[in-house]
Amino acid sequence: MCGIIGYIGDKNCSDILLQGLSKLEYRGYDSAGIAILNNNNITRLKTEGKLQGLYAKVYLEKPEGTIGIGHTRWATHGAPTTINAHPHSAGKFTIIHNGIIENYKELKSYLQKEGAIFSTETDSEIIAHLLDLNSKNLTFEEAVVKTISKLEGAFAVLVLFEEAEKIVAFKQHSPMVIGVGSGEMFVASDIPALLEYTKRFIFMNDGELAILEKNSFNLYDFSLNSKEYKIETLNISPLMAEKGNYKHFMLKEIFEQNRSISDTFRGRVLNGGEKLDLDTSELNDFFKNSLKRVIITACGTSWHAGLVGKYLIEHLARVPVEVDYASEYRYRSPIVDENSLIIAISQSGETADTLFSIKMAKEMGAKVLSICNVFQSSIPRSSDAVLYTYAGPEIGVASTKAFTTQLAVIIMLAIHLKECKTGELDVKLLKELLSIPEKIDGILQNSELILELAQKYHHFRDFLFLGRGLNFPIALEGALKLKEISYIHAEGYPSGEMKHGPIALVDEDMPTIIMATKNNQYEKVLSNLQEIRARSGKVIAIATEGNNSIKEFCDDIFFVPESSALLEPFFTVIPLQLFAYYVADIKGTDVDQPRNLAKCVTVE
Ligand code: AGP
Repeated sequence: MCGIIGYIGDKNCSDILLQGLSKLEYRGYDSAGIAILNNNNITRLKTEGKLQGLYAKVYLEKPEGTIGIGHTRWATHGAPTTINAHPHSAGKFTIIHNGIIENYKELKSYLQKEGAIFSTETDSEIIAHLLDLNSKNLTFEEAVVKTISKLEGAFAVLVLFEEAEKIVAFKQHSPMVIGVGSGEMFVASDIPALLEYTKRFIFMNDGELAILEKNSFNLYDFSLNSKEYKIETLNISPLMAEKGNYKHFMLKEIFEQNRSISDTFRGRVLNGGEKLDLDTSELNDFFKNSLKRVIITACGTSWHAGLVGKYLIEHLARVPVEVDYASEYRYRSPIVDENSLIIAISQSGETADTLFSIKMAKEMGAKVLSICNVFQSSIPRSSDAVLYTYAGPEIGVASTKAFTTQLAVIIMLAIHLKECKTGELDVKLLKELLSIPEKIDGILQNSELILELAQKYHHFRDFLFLGRGLNFPIALEGALKLKEISYIHAEGYPSGEMKHGPIALVDEDMPTIIMATKNNQYEKVLSNLQEIRARSGKVIAIATEGNNSIKEFCDDIFFVPESSALLEPFFTVIPLQLFAYYVADIKGTDVDQPRNLAKCVTVE
C-alpha cells in the first residue's frame, strides 16, 4: 500500500505535502514525490528511497503553488526507483495512485497502439495516459469518468490538470479521506496526514469521485451523479491515527488480515475462482517438464509458513518437499540439482540466513522462487521469480498479516503446481479461497473471547501448543508468537508426539492450547486431549464451529469456522495471534518492539 495526499487552498503547499507524507510513511517508504500546480504549469519532484531525499529536493527547488499532490510508495509493479516514483504524467495530466490496476497490461498495450510513450515500469502510469487520450473533446471531469470506466482493481487516485485549479479524487478498494478546512481542502489515504490541519473529515466510499476547489467540495458517483456526504469531527492524536483505533501496530495488523489476504488474491484468483493467474511465467515450463523436488528455506514465522507449504504442495501437486531452517540449510551440504526448486519465504526480503541459502542453491544449479512482502528487496532480486504478498508494511516485530498472506501465496502456488503437473485446475478449492477473508473477519469479531482467555491464563509460566497435520505448523507459530512478545516459555509439538516424552511436562501449571478442528485426525486429537486432562493439564481447544460435544473434554474453547482441512491454518492461527497479543498487553511488554528482537535480521 502507498500513502497519498492532496491540498488546495491559499498556502504554499510543498511543506503541507511533505509533512503529510511523513505521517504516511508507515504505509510505504521506498520512494516519494510531489506535484504542484502554479499558473497552468505543474512542477514534479520525486526521489527513490526515504522521504528525506524528497525534502532535500524540495528545499533546493522551492516549488511555488497552492495546489498540489504527494505520494509515498510501497512498490508493487516496477522497481522502487526515481523514475517509477509517483507522480506520473501524460499530456497535461499528473496523477498519483494507491492500489493495483489489475488490467494494466492490456490497457498499456492498447495505449501504446494509440501512440502513448511510457517512461515507467509501473501499472499506475496507464491512468495518466488514459486521461490524456480521453481528454480530446471532453471536459476534465468527463475525461476522468471515461478513464475510471476502463480501470479494474484497486485504486485511490488524485489528478491535477494544468488548465484547472482543482484536484479530482476517486477511489475503489483503496482508502481515501477528505479533510475539510476553512478556505482550504485536503485529501489523503487516511487521517494521520491531516490531523495537524483539521479535525473534520469525509470518509469516501468505493465508487465515489470528489472535485476539490479552494472553497468548495462536490461528491459524485462514477457517472457524475451528485452524492450526499457526512462531515465527521474526530478528536484523536496523530500517533493514535497511524495505528487507527488500535493500541499497537501488531493488533492493527492482526485486524488487517482479511484485507491483506484479499489484496494478495486480487488479480490472481479470477472470475470468481474459475481461473488462476499466478505470475510465474518464467518458471512454468520448468514446473511442467523438469520439477522433481522442492526445498523450502526460511526462518521463524516464514519457516512455519514453509511447513504448511510442504503439506499443501505434497498433497495437491504430489511433488516431494523438504523444509529447512535457512540457518541450517546453508551448512549441511545439501543435495541440489537442476530439477530442484528452492522456495525462499521472507517477509522482509533481507534475512541474511535466507538470502545466503538461496545464493548457495543458485550456485548449485537450482531454480529459486521467492515469496516476499517487500518489493525488490534483496531476496526477490536474487531469485529467478518472485510471488509478492500484498500485506503492506508490517511494522510490528511479531509477524501476523505477512504470515497469512504467505499462506495465501502458497496455497495458490500449490494449486498452480498441481495444474502444471496434471493439467487439472482445482476450481472447487480455488473458489473456496475467496471465502477466507470473510471467515477471518468473523473470527476477529469474537476477539473479546480471546481477551477473556488471556485474562484467565496470562499468569502461567509455561504453555504447550499442539496440532496435527496442517495444524502442527500452526502450533509452532502460536508458541512463537506467545514467547516472542510475552516472554513466556511456550513449545509447539505434533499432538501425536506428546506420548513420546513431552507429556511428562503436563500438570496443572502447564496449560495446553490444542488445535482440535473437525478433520480426519479429530478422533486422535481428542485422545491426545484426554491424555492431557487425565494428568490435570488445563486444555484450551481451538475447535470447529458447531462441535459442542468437545466442550466436556476441555477447560476452555474457541470456535473457528468450518472449512476444507487444507485451509484450516488460515483460521486456527488467528486466535493464537490474538491470545499472544492480549497476554503480552496484559503483562505490559513492548508488544511492537519486544526485547532482544528486530523486525529484520540482516546478520547471521
Ligand atoms: C516472527 O514473528 C519473527 N519476527 C521472526 O521469526 C521472523 O519471522 C523471521 O525473522 C523471518 O523474517 P523474514 O520473514 O523477514 O525473513
